[in-house]
Formats: sequence, structure tokens, C-alpha cells
Amino acid sequence: MRNYKYILSIETSCDDTSVALLRDRSVLSNVIYSQSVHQFYQGVVPELASRDHQKKIIPTIDHALALAKMKIKQVHAIAYTVGPGLIGSLLVGSSVAKSLALSLNIPLIEVHHMQAHLLVHFIKGAHKKEPAFPFLGVTLSGGHTQIAIIKDVFTFQEIGTTLDDAIGECFDKCGTLLGFDYPSGHLIDQLSQKGNPDRFQFPLPSTPKFHLSYSGLKTAFKNFVLKNINEDEGFIKNNKADLCASLQKVMIEHLTHKIKDAVTKTGLKQIVFGGGVSCNRFLFKHCHHLFDSSEYRLFFPPKQYTTDNAAMIGIAGYFKLQKGIIGNLNTTPKAKLNLAHS
Ligand code: KG4
Ligand code: ZN
Repeated sequence: MRNYKYILSIETSCDDTSVALLRDRSVLSNVIYSQSVHQFYQGVVPELASRDHQKKIIPTIDHALALAKMKIKQVHAIAYTVGPGLIGSLLVGSSVAKSLALSLNIPLIEVHHMQAHLLVHFIKGAHKKEPAFPFLGVTLSGGHTQIAIIKDVFTFQEIGTTLDDAIGECFDKCGTLLGFDYPSGHLIDQLSQKGNPDRFQFPLPSTPKFHLSYSGLKTAFKNFVLKNINEDEGFIKNNKADLCASLQKVMIEHLTHKIKDAVTKTGLKQIVFGGGVSCNRFLFKHCHHLFDSSEYRLFFPPKQYTTDNAAMIGIAGYFKLQKGIIGNLNTTPKAKLNLAHS
């Protein structure tokens, strides 16, 4: 009989409490509890996030075990997010992971959140044909925007990053200005479908090498909107879809220019996306248009694995467990963590 490995994984880096059970590379359950307490503040409040993780982590573990029809004693290893993220949130997940590993006397595995966003593509059934190493990895989330060369499951080389705001942050901040609830990336994406992306022109950010920048664009958008509201109170209401579509277009085009440069420079023809923004529909369409040839292969994660989830922590943990890369109880979570961290 096959000797399966069962991994329980925990993700608490930001405002989602998530627990998954994996049997080797198959996901048995992946429970995500998204905190709503932050909506009122239009952004994540770190102290509230860690308190909510504390309340929800045990029920989420119980729920994930029940869905997987498993008992905690059947688990062979515990994987958890060691960073990057909000330190208070990370501490909740790491304390629970350590306690479980210690009391069950099983291995503890430390997982890098952004690496996991890219390794999610290796979950069984995520794609008919998986990406082959090396490939170009693009992480797009609320806190990170990175372009990297991924040589194997353990070797990540960042070649470009945002110099200021992350792409998701820009979506969310501009969304708040337009009156959307937080987080608003998916709402801007949705309304953009009805808008004209060429109606308003915003400056395409100019950055060196494969780096990106969204702070100047965010300010330009804000100034433009405020100036127009001054002249016409109903400006946002009457032009919301066009504003969304025009903003989204320039944000995505800035990114795809850099991806195109990176593809040319590295010669890598497989582009693998990860993170919350990777389910953006304009990004999907625009990339398929830009890389419309059989020599390229684009990989977007299945929808349920785009935003923060513990299944991605589980798959990254699986690769480490296979190689015997085990963490230890003295490791403290890290708010900042280089993508190349092993
Ligand atoms: O990866 P993620 O769940 O969390 C972080 O690690 O930050 O990403 C969350 C981000 C938020 O900024 C959210 O607005 C954005 O992903 N997002 C989107 C879409 N869905 C989620 N942005 C653009 N288009 C979407 N469809
Ligand atoms: Zn994330």
C-alpha cells in the first residue's frame, strides 16, 4: 500500500485564517475564514487581525479536519506560514503550529508565503500539465508585486519588485476613493467589464529594469478624481465603470510591459502567476493577447487558490517534507522575508 503523507497546514499571514489538509499533493480540505472586521476601516488593522485569528484558528482546524474526515492523530507534519506578513497574525499561526507539532511529536515545516503563492500550481489537479522548471514567476498581492526566476521548488530569484505600493494595494486604495468596500480589487475588475478602458488617460509608471511602481499612479488617479469632483459632484457616480476600466488598464499594462521585458531578457517562456490579483480578468485577457503563440505557456492559479489559502502552504510544506527540510521550535516568524529565503 502507498505510504501517503498527511500534512495539516496553517496560513495566518494577514486577514484570512486558513487551514488545509493535504494527502501528498492532493487537497482534502481547504477552509478559509476571511475577516470582515477590517471593512469598516477600509484596510487591515493589524491588532484586530491577530485577535480574530486567535478566535478562529481552533474552529478552523476542527472544520478542516472534519471536512477531510480525519483525526489530528493521523497527521504526519504541520506546515505554517513563517512570513512575510503581519507579525501579530503570523505569531498566532506559528504558536498553534508549534504547539501541535510538539504535542503530536511530528515535524514542523516553515513556509514562505510568497513562494507558496507560486507553488500552488503543483497541487494535484491544478493543471492538466504543470509548469516545468525553470519558469518566470509573477506574484501579485496586497503586499507584494514581484517578478522572479523560479529554478526549482526551493530556488527563487527575484529580478523585479515594486519600489513602493503593491498592485493589490493600489487597487484597494483607488477602490476606497471610488466608494467601494475593502478589499476592492475584484469589484474594480467586475465593474471594468462595463467600462471603456480608453476613456481616461493615466500616466504609465516609468521604472528601471524589471521593477514596478504604483504609488505615483495612485496619486495621479486620486488628484484626477478629486479635481473632477470639485467641478461635478456626481463625477464618480456618473463615470465609475470608465474610471475603473481606465485605471485597471494602465495598472495591468505597466505590469505586462515588465513581464514582456523579463521574458525577452531571460528567454523563459512559461509565465506562472500567483496571489490575489492573479484572478483579474483584464490581466488574463491581456496576457493571452500579448503571448498569443504556442511557444508561450501561461499559468493562472485555479480561482480558489488565488487569494490567501492554506492549501498553498500545504503543497510548499510537502516539498520540504519530502526533502527532509524540517523547521524548528525556535524560529520566530518574520514580517519581511526575501523571496530567495530557504
Ligand atoms: O494574495 P492576497 O489574497 O493577499 C495578500 O497576500 O496580500 O491578495 C489580496 C489582494 C487584494 O488587494 C485584493 O483587492 C486583490 O488581491 N484582488 C484583486 C482581484 N481579486 C482580489 N485585484 C484585482 N482583480 C481581482 N479580481
Ligand atoms: Zn498572499
